[in-house]
Amino acid sequence: MSSVPMLARSIVIEPTLAAWREAARPFLESGVEPDLIHFVDTAAASVQPLFVAEALSTSAGVRTGPRPHVPSSFLRRAETVACHRSPGRWNLLYRLLWRLQQNRDLLRVEVDDDVIEFRRLEHQVNRDLHKMHAFIRFRRVAGDFGEEEYVAWHRPDHLILPLAAPFFAERFAVMRWSILTADASMRWNPEMKRVEFGPGVPRERAPEDDELEELWRTYYGSIFNPARTNLRAMRAEMPARYWKNLPELQSMPGLLREAGQRVAGMIESQSALGVMSWIPAEHTLPVLREAIPRCRGCDLHACATQAVFGEGSERVALMLVGEQPGDEEDRRGQPFVGPAGRLLDQLLAEAGIDRGSLYVTNAVKHFKFVQRGKLRLHQSPRLSEMNACRPWLLAELDAVRPALVVCLGATAAKSLLGAKFALMRDRGRLVSSPWAAQVMATLHPSAILRATDPERAEGMRAMLLEDLRQARSIVA
Ligand code: URA
Ligand code: SF4
Repeated sequence: MSSVPMLARSIVIEPTLAAWREAARPFLESGVEPDLIHFVDTAAASVQPLFVAEALSTSAGVRTGPRPHVPSSFLRRAETVACHRSPGRWNLLYRLLWRLQQNRDLLRVEVDDDVIEFRRLEHQVNRDLHKMHAFIRFRRVAGDFGEEEYVAWHRPDHLILPLAAPFFAERFAVMRWSILTADASMRWNPEMKRVEFGPGVPRERAPEDDELEELWRTYYGSIFNPARTNLRAMRAEMPARYWKNLPELQSMPGLLREAGQRVAGMIESQSALGVMSWIPAEHTLPVLREAIPRCRGCDLHACATQAVFGEGSERVALMLVGEQPGDEEDRRGQPFVGPAGRLLDQLLAEAGIDRGSLYVTNAVKHFKFVQRGKLRLHQSPRLSEMNACRPWLLAELDAVRPALVVCLGATAAKSLLGAKFALMRDRGRLVSSPWAAQVMATLHPSAILRATDPERAEGMRAMLLEDLRQARSIVA
């Protein structure tokens, strides 16, 4: 299609998906083959970005084909891949998008080299994001006016701050916090309900733990203090590549735009900061197990007998996550050993899964109940309790690193896949998640025990069994 003979030419862009899209669009519209162009970003090149107008002029007059088709599933995943440090990611994205015009199912072709690379980068960014979500340690520092401020220093492998922002905005909605990295920094402003982005920590200033506060005071405190700075002054100080489009929210992934609305109802989730202080930095099962009895991350510890930690070995392929311990689990200190556990054991046996080859745990580690005479009646945990306890689950995930996580019931599914996850619609489907390579959700065995209609109970049992069999075939 491209009748104009061209040598492969370099297109210099800002390292953002938005900049890449803008630069790539005219080439794609004129059918310019991937081999003929080469994207370089300003993080890799020591040159100033060319304006898009320059790119446009390349293809002026050859706008022939139909408007390119850009599948939203591709764009969503490209947002993740764009955060990878690989300099080749922009060319890969162009190649994929170019090829998607011919084959709309390309991303499903698992043996395709470009698709394999795309998934590899996506997985590495998700893994990095997971580590950031789970392991950041905030330090409390006093702000200028004595107000509290939480600051963390983190070393992500990739350029993931924009991807990580919605998670922290939601989790720590009411606090003022900042996360500093070598590439960029961000700060949550709880009054404005927005994340502001700033420069990275100069390489020579990378702080040791006890230097973080000083770095904050001498540098970042004033950079982020709106009373003392204006945007122009900030731009002058910062690497251009981060300030071209920021702090305007448009340059952020779609999720962040929603963050303001989502935080409104999530103020309770600040208790997650509390739980962080109970979780040891070393995520091995013995260390975590030893620490959890001291957890006071939410109120559930007060009435329960003990925290019930997961059971199994590190590095098993399959992890099951239930809701919370029941009456019997609470007394014995082990997960799934009561009536639901016995049913689960039967179903596992029928599905050909050896319970000894699993790691079994719960989304919430303390039993929640109301006392009725001698009986302790199970109560579902609230969102705030799930949020408070999630870091324990994430720490277990980090220790075990299963290939597949099966969530039993809606609580576990919502904890790992988001509050909007619809269990009966999406059960049995493999979902990618930042927390594990693959996650699947299915029914909880207790739901079967509670069903009053025998036929319905039988149907539910069959579904759970089918999902467990599928899980087995995935990890086999
Ligand atoms: N139900 C659960 O979700 N977990 C248990 O450990 C027991 C019952
Ligand atoms: Fe800690 Fe979880 Fe128990 Fe709450 S339920 S006290 S967060 S272990």
